Amino acid sequence: MADERILDSIHARLDRPLVLIGMMGSGKSRLGRMLAEALDLPFMDSDEEIEKAAGCTISEIFERYGEPFFRDRERRIVARLLENGRGVIATGGGAPMQPETAEAIWTRSVSIWVRTELSLLIERTGRNGNRPLLKGGDPAEILKGLAAVRNPVYERADIVVDSHGGPAASIMNDALQRLDGYLAAQNRKGASRDAE
Ligand code: S3P
Repeated sequence: MADERILDSIHARLDRPLVLIGMMGSGKSRLGRMLAEALDLPFMDSDEEIEKAAGCTISEIFERYGEPFFRDRERRIVARLLENGRGVIATGGGAPMQPETAEAIWTRSVSIWVRTELSLLIERTGRNGNRPLLKGGDPAEILKGLAAVRNPVYERADIVVDSHGGPAASIMNDALQRLDGYLAAQNRKGASRDAE
């Protein structure tokens, strides 16, 4: 159970959507759903929204229309979801690699990087074959290459949460504590700016 005081304190200060970013298999959607439930906020998943709008799966979109088409839909959907105000948005792993999307995430949300070790990403993504980017070669090598390019971008997030192999509840509590700490620090910065 999340600490009620932390939940109240987050509620009092949060004025933007929370956006979860990170590699495929990092557990963004799972953590996002848990955070949304704990904070009683709507949950949105950019991949699910893209699938709903296209009427087919992400794999089918890649096969039929190619990656550029998917990236275009992703950019538009994330921009739309960011307009919905408070809520929790899980994004696909490649979303912040589009400069326009990254800029929108950095400026219009509180961003959370769900950081995960490569070995866990390999294990988790290996459980199902719904990641089209991993089909063109050795999934472990592809993930390693993507992480090398993407981690420096993910690092720009406001908050970093380690998604280790431990209990989901402890990862969520860690995320809530970090979020509370971040919002409190932002609040203090705002107060000292006002006093100047
Ligand atoms: C992608 C990650 C996937 C999905 C698509 C591309 C990526 O989402 O958007 O397959 O570029 O890393 P998840 O991160 O939710 O797996």
